[in-house]
Amino acid sequence: MMKKMQIAIDGPASAGKSTVAKLVAKKLGYIYCDTGAMYRAVTWAALQKGIAVTDDLALAKLLQDFSLEFVPAEPEQKVLVNGQDVTKAIRMPEVANNVSAVAAQASVRTDLTQRQRDIAQTGGIVMDGRDIGTTVLPQAEVKIFLIASVAERALRRHKENLEKGIPSNLKILEDEIAQRDYKDSHREISPLVKAVDATEVDTTSLNIDEVVAVIMDLVAQKEK
Ligand code: CDP
Ligand code: CDP
Repeated sequence: MMKKMQIAIDGPASAGKSTVAKLVAKKLGYIYCDTGAMYRAVTWAALQKGIAVTDDLALAKLLQDFSLEFVPAEPEQKVLVNGQDVTKAIRMPEVANNVSAVAAQASVRTDLTQRQRDIAQTGGIVMDGRDIGTTVLPQAEVKIFLIASVAERALRRHKENLEKGIPSNLKILEDEIAQRDYKDSHREISPLVKAVDATEVDTTSLNIDEVVAVIMDLVAQKEK
Protein backbone atom coordinates (compact mmCIF):
# COMPACT_ATOMS: atom_id res chain seq x y z
CA MET A 1 0.00 0.00 0.00
CA MET A 2 1.11 3.56 -0.71
CA LYS A 3 2.43 5.42 2.29
CA LYS A 4 -0.10 7.88 3.75
CA MET A 5 1.71 11.17 3.66
CA GLN A 6 1.34 14.55 5.32
CA ILE A 7 1.11 17.39 2.80
CA ALA A 8 1.58 20.95 4.10
CA ILE A 9 0.38 23.88 1.98
CA ASP A 10 1.25 27.36 3.24
CA GLY A 11 1.13 30.85 1.81
CA PRO A 12 -0.58 34.24 2.05
CA ALA A 13 -4.32 34.98 1.79
CA SER A 14 -6.01 33.92 -1.46
CA ALA A 15 -2.97 32.28 -2.99
CA GLY A 16 -5.24 29.31 -3.73
CA LYS A 17 -4.30 27.11 -0.77
CA SER A 18 -7.72 25.78 0.20
CA THR A 19 -8.92 25.28 -3.37
CA VAL A 20 -5.93 23.20 -4.42
CA ALA A 21 -5.62 21.47 -1.02
CA LYS A 22 -9.20 20.18 -1.33
CA LEU A 23 -8.58 18.89 -4.86
CA VAL A 24 -5.30 17.20 -3.94
CA ALA A 25 -7.00 15.58 -0.91
CA LYS A 26 -9.81 14.31 -3.11
CA LYS A 27 -7.43 12.83 -5.69
CA LEU A 28 -5.42 11.03 -3.01
CA GLY A 29 -8.37 10.06 -0.78
CA TYR A 30 -6.82 12.09 2.05
CA ILE A 31 -8.43 14.23 4.76
CA TYR A 32 -8.38 17.99 4.17
CA CYS A 33 -7.84 20.33 7.14
CA ASP A 34 -8.33 24.09 6.77
CA THR A 35 -6.39 25.59 9.69
CA GLY A 36 -7.37 29.14 8.69
CA ALA A 37 -10.98 28.17 9.36
CA MET A 38 -9.92 27.16 12.89
CA TYR A 39 -8.39 30.61 13.58
CA ARG A 40 -11.46 32.21 12.03
CA ALA A 41 -13.77 30.11 14.25
CA VAL A 42 -11.97 31.25 17.42
CA THR A 43 -12.16 34.86 16.18
CA TRP A 44 -15.89 34.51 15.48
CA ALA A 45 -16.50 33.14 18.99
CA ALA A 46 -14.43 35.93 20.60
CA LEU A 47 -16.39 38.60 18.72
CA GLN A 48 -19.69 36.94 19.73
CA LYS A 49 -18.69 36.99 23.39
CA GLY A 50 -17.27 40.51 23.28
CA ILE A 51 -13.76 39.28 24.13
CA ALA A 52 -10.98 41.65 23.03
CA VAL A 53 -9.11 39.96 20.17
CA THR A 54 -5.76 40.69 21.84
CA ASP A 55 -6.76 39.40 25.29
CA ASP A 56 -4.66 36.25 25.44
CA LEU A 57 -5.97 35.15 28.85
CA ALA A 58 -9.62 35.55 27.92
CA LEU A 59 -9.01 33.69 24.66
CA ALA A 60 -7.32 30.86 26.57
CA LYS A 61 -10.40 30.62 28.77
CA LEU A 62 -12.70 30.63 25.74
CA LEU A 63 -10.74 27.69 24.29
CA GLN A 64 -11.26 25.57 27.40
CA ASP A 65 -14.87 25.07 26.42
CA PHE A 66 -14.58 25.15 22.66
CA SER A 67 -15.43 22.20 20.46
CA LEU A 68 -14.44 22.61 16.83
CA GLU A 69 -15.56 20.13 14.19
CA PHE A 70 -15.28 19.79 10.43
CA VAL A 71 -18.26 17.94 9.01
CA PRO A 72 -18.09 16.64 5.42
CA ALA A 73 -20.76 18.26 3.21
CA GLU A 74 -21.27 19.45 -0.39
CA PRO A 75 -20.32 21.88 -1.85
CA GLU A 76 -18.03 22.53 1.12
CA GLN A 77 -17.39 20.97 4.50
CA LYS A 78 -19.15 22.61 7.43
CA VAL A 79 -17.40 24.18 10.41
CA LEU A 80 -19.17 23.70 13.75
CA VAL A 81 -18.36 25.56 16.97
CA ASN A 82 -19.94 23.91 20.00
CA GLY A 83 -22.41 22.34 17.58
CA GLN A 84 -23.35 25.61 15.84
CA ASP A 85 -22.81 25.90 12.07
CA VAL A 86 -20.48 28.89 11.54
CA THR A 87 -19.32 28.00 8.00
CA LYS A 88 -20.63 31.24 6.49
CA ALA A 89 -20.18 33.49 9.50
CA ILE A 90 -16.41 32.91 9.67
CA ARG A 91 -15.99 34.32 6.12
CA MET A 92 -17.49 37.70 6.98
CA PRO A 93 -15.25 40.82 6.78
CA GLU A 94 -15.44 41.43 10.55
CA VAL A 95 -13.83 38.05 11.17
CA ALA A 96 -11.27 38.52 8.36
CA ASN A 97 -10.21 41.87 9.82
CA ASN A 98 -9.70 40.52 13.34
CA VAL A 99 -8.32 37.05 12.71
CA SER A 100 -4.65 38.05 12.42
CA ALA A 101 -4.78 39.64 15.89
CA VAL A 102 -6.29 36.50 17.41
CA ALA A 103 -3.80 34.32 15.51
CA ALA A 104 -0.90 36.26 17.04
CA GLN A 105 -1.87 35.23 20.61
CA ALA A 106 0.32 32.56 22.20
CA SER A 107 -2.48 30.61 23.90
CA VAL A 108 -4.48 30.39 20.69
CA ARG A 109 -1.51 29.16 18.66
CA THR A 110 -0.55 26.55 21.23
CA ASP A 111 -4.09 25.24 21.49
CA LEU A 112 -4.85 25.11 17.75
CA THR A 113 -1.41 23.70 16.86
CA GLN A 114 -2.11 20.77 19.20
CA ARG A 115 -5.56 20.20 17.68
CA GLN A 116 -4.02 20.28 14.18
CA ARG A 117 -1.33 17.73 15.10
CA ASP A 118 -4.02 15.44 16.53
CA ILE A 119 -6.00 15.66 13.28
CA ALA A 120 -2.84 14.93 11.21
CA GLN A 121 -1.39 12.11 13.30
CA THR A 122 -2.73 9.23 11.20
CA GLY A 123 -1.21 10.67 7.98
CA GLY A 124 -3.17 10.85 4.75
CA ILE A 125 -3.72 14.56 5.31
CA VAL A 126 -3.53 17.76 3.31
CA MET A 127 -3.35 20.71 5.72
CA ASP A 128 -3.27 24.35 4.63
CA GLY A 129 -2.38 27.47 6.61
CA ARG A 130 0.57 29.73 7.38
CA ASP A 131 2.84 27.67 9.62
CA ILE A 132 2.09 24.07 8.70
CA GLY A 133 5.44 23.27 7.08
CA THR A 134 7.44 25.23 9.66
CA THR A 135 5.70 24.57 13.00
CA VAL A 136 2.65 22.29 12.94
CA LEU A 137 4.02 19.46 10.77
CA PRO A 138 7.74 20.13 10.27
CA GLN A 139 8.12 16.43 9.36
CA ALA A 140 5.58 16.63 6.49
CA GLU A 141 6.76 14.66 3.45
CA VAL A 142 5.54 17.30 0.97
CA LYS A 143 5.68 21.04 1.65
CA ILE A 144 4.35 23.66 -0.72
CA PHE A 145 4.52 27.45 -0.40
CA LEU A 146 1.97 29.10 -2.70
CA ILE A 147 2.32 32.76 -3.62
CA ALA A 148 0.67 35.20 -6.07
CA SER A 149 0.68 38.98 -6.51
CA VAL A 150 -1.55 41.04 -4.16
CA ALA A 151 -3.57 42.35 -7.13
CA GLU A 152 -4.28 38.84 -8.41
CA ARG A 153 -5.16 37.56 -4.93
CA ALA A 154 -7.55 40.47 -4.27
CA LEU A 155 -9.22 39.86 -7.62
CA ARG A 156 -9.68 36.16 -6.82
CA ARG A 157 -11.19 36.89 -3.42
CA HIS A 158 -13.43 39.59 -4.95
CA LYS A 159 -14.85 37.17 -7.53
CA GLU A 160 -15.32 34.51 -4.86
CA ASN A 161 -17.16 36.97 -2.57
CA LEU A 162 -19.48 38.06 -5.35
CA GLU A 163 -20.29 34.43 -6.17
CA LYS A 164 -21.06 33.73 -2.51
CA GLY A 165 -23.10 36.92 -2.04
CA ILE A 166 -20.57 38.39 0.41
CA PRO A 167 -20.24 42.22 0.18
CA SER A 168 -17.00 43.04 -1.65
CA ASN A 169 -14.93 46.00 -2.86
CA LEU A 170 -11.75 45.29 -4.82
CA LYS A 171 -9.71 48.26 -3.57
CA ILE A 172 -10.62 47.58 0.07
CA LEU A 173 -9.79 43.89 -0.40
CA GLU A 174 -6.34 44.75 -1.77
CA ASP A 175 -5.62 46.86 1.31
CA GLU A 176 -6.99 44.21 3.69
CA ILE A 177 -4.97 41.43 2.09
CA ALA A 178 -1.77 43.50 2.14
CA GLN A 179 -2.36 44.34 5.82
CA ARG A 180 -3.06 40.73 6.73
CA ASP A 181 0.08 39.60 4.85
CA TYR A 182 2.09 42.13 6.84
CA LYS A 183 0.65 41.10 10.22
CA ASP A 184 0.96 37.37 9.48
CA SER A 185 4.58 37.74 8.32
CA HIS A 186 5.72 39.96 11.18
CA ARG A 187 4.16 38.35 14.25
CA GLU A 188 6.51 36.86 16.83
CA ILE A 189 5.12 33.34 17.04
CA SER A 190 5.04 31.11 13.94
CA PRO A 191 5.05 33.90 11.36
CA LEU A 192 4.15 33.25 7.74
CA VAL A 193 7.46 32.19 6.25
CA LYS A 194 8.49 29.60 3.68
CA ALA A 195 9.99 26.48 5.25
CA VAL A 196 13.55 25.93 3.99
CA ASP A 197 12.53 22.61 2.47
CA ALA A 198 9.25 23.85 0.90
CA THR A 199 8.73 24.18 -2.85
CA GLU A 200 7.56 27.68 -3.77
CA VAL A 201 4.95 27.88 -6.52
CA ASP A 202 3.95 31.28 -7.94
CA THR A 203 0.32 30.86 -8.98
CA THR A 204 -0.21 34.39 -10.36
CA SER A 205 -0.55 33.10 -13.89
CA LEU A 206 -1.37 29.45 -13.17
CA ASN A 207 -4.90 28.08 -13.12
CA ILE A 208 -6.12 25.73 -10.41
CA ASP A 209 -5.52 22.54 -12.43
CA GLU A 210 -1.96 23.60 -13.20
CA VAL A 211 -1.21 24.17 -9.51
CA VAL A 212 -2.77 20.82 -8.58
CA ALA A 213 -0.61 19.12 -11.23
CA VAL A 214 2.58 20.63 -9.78
CA ILE A 215 1.66 19.32 -6.32
CA MET A 216 0.67 15.86 -7.60
CA ASP A 217 4.09 15.64 -9.32
CA LEU A 218 5.83 16.37 -6.02
CA VAL A 219 3.69 13.72 -4.29
CA ALA A 220 4.51 11.17 -7.02
CA GLN A 221 8.24 11.85 -6.58
CA LYS A 222 7.93 11.13 -2.84
CA GLU A 223 6.03 7.91 -3.51
CA LYS A 224 8.91 6.50 -5.58
O1 CDP B 1 -8.44 32.08 3.34
P1 CDP B 1 -7.52 33.18 3.73
O2 CDP B 1 -6.24 33.06 3.02
O3 CDP B 1 -8.17 34.51 3.75
O4 CDP B 1 -7.09 33.00 5.21
P2 CDP B 1 -7.27 31.75 6.10
O5 CDP B 1 -6.42 30.64 5.59
O6 CDP B 1 -8.71 31.54 6.30
O7 CDP B 1 -6.59 32.25 7.44
C1 CDP B 1 -7.11 33.36 8.16
C2 CDP B 1 -6.06 33.90 9.10
O8 CDP B 1 -5.77 32.92 10.09
C3 CDP B 1 -4.71 34.24 8.49
O9 CDP B 1 -4.68 35.56 7.94
C4 CDP B 1 -3.78 34.12 9.68
O10 CDP B 1 -3.81 35.29 10.46
C5 CDP B 1 -4.41 33.00 10.49
N1 CDP B 1 -3.78 31.70 10.28
C6 CDP B 1 -2.63 31.45 10.98
O11 CDP B 1 -2.13 32.31 11.69
N2 CDP B 1 -2.04 30.22 10.91
C7 CDP B 1 -2.57 29.26 10.15
N3 CDP B 1 -1.99 28.05 10.11
C8 CDP B 1 -3.74 29.51 9.39
C9 CDP B 1 -4.30 30.76 9.47
O1 CDP C 1 -7.02 29.34 0.68
P1 CDP C 1 -6.53 30.61 0.07
O2 CDP C 1 -6.97 31.81 0.81
O3 CDP C 1 -5.07 30.60 -0.18
O4 CDP C 1 -7.16 30.73 -1.39
P2 CDP C 1 -8.47 30.06 -2.00
O5 CDP C 1 -9.62 30.42 -1.14
O6 CDP C 1 -8.21 28.63 -2.28
O7 CDP C 1 -8.54 30.77 -3.41
C1 CDP C 1 -9.09 32.06 -3.57
C2 CDP C 1 -9.78 32.12 -4.91
O8 CDP C 1 -8.81 32.07 -5.95
C3 CDP C 1 -10.77 30.99 -5.17
O9 CDP C 1 -11.95 31.52 -5.69
C4 CDP C 1 -10.08 30.14 -6.22
O10 CDP C 1 -11.00 29.55 -7.11
C5 CDP C 1 -9.21 31.15 -6.95
N1 CDP C 1 -7.99 30.58 -7.54
C6 CDP C 1 -7.65 30.89 -8.83
O11 CDP C 1 -8.39 31.61 -9.49
N2 CDP C 1 -6.50 30.39 -9.40
C7 CDP C 1 -5.67 29.62 -8.71
N3 CDP C 1 -4.57 29.15 -9.27
C8 CDP C 1 -6.00 29.30 -7.38
C9 CDP C 1 -7.17 29.82 -6.81
